[in-house]
Amino acid sequence: MGWLDFLKMKPEVVEDLDLSWLGTDMHSHLIPGIDDGSKTMEESLSLLQRMESFGLKKVITTPHIMSEYYRNTPEIIQLGLEDLQKAAREAGIKLEIQAAAEYYMDEIFLEKVKNEEKLLTFGDNYILVETGFINKPQMLLEIIFHLEMAGYKPVYAHPERYQYLLTDKKLLEDLLERKLIFQMNLLSLTGFYSKPVKDFAEMLLEREAVSFLGTDCHNPRYLDMLESLPRNQKIYSKIRQMEWINSTL
Ligand SMILES: [Fe+2]
Repeated sequence: MGWLDFLKMKPEVVEDLDLSWLGTDMHSHLIPGIDDGSKTMEESLSLLQRMESFGLKKVITTPHIMSEYYRNTPEIIQLGLEDLQKAAREAGIKLEIQAAAEYYMDEIFLEKVKNEEKLLTFGDNYILVETGFINKPQMLLEIIFHLEMAGYKPVYAHPERYQYLLTDKKLLEDLLERKLIFQMNLLSLTGFYSKPVKDFAEMLLEREAVSFLGTDCHNPRYLDMLESLPRNQKIYSKIRQMEWINSTL
């Protein structure tokens, strides 16, 4: 076969991505214009259509609430959710759409918890929380403690992406020992973020230390990459064998 024949070859057909086994995606940024996620309603609808085509039944979208950058409130998120639900209905999207939030763990957040301000949760009082990627927040354990005391079940968003956790083995073991609920981004397994993130994600899966999976979808690039999720590898069989709280939401 000459090289011209090689060029004429069709690309290998990749099986359509099927996430029906997961049921619900509980981490995404699909309310347009209120964080670094989707920018327009058109973009949100196109993302929802694609997520529906993956076989998902429900999406719980989680706009950032971060004191310095995204000053979202439960009211802003609720209004954005209602607009999104209406537009989705009109576009014929059947996916059930709910909203919670992704809270950045800092001093201001700790004050909100201590003051018993209304916080957005999903399912059985789960609350999605994140930190910066480089340095361990000083109040990490204190915030988790106060959340638990207030009856919340903190869900630690994408631990595999935190550099401080990758290097601080003692902290990782502490968090695992106290049974903090971990949520992994499916995209971490594609190498979307980096090779160390992929390796860390695989290690956490091997230890069955993860209870939720999320897309963390911000824009179409996330879903393009998600479609390349390696489905013929051992690690994919592993995630299919494990039980996910997502499917109970
Ligand atoms: Fe996120």
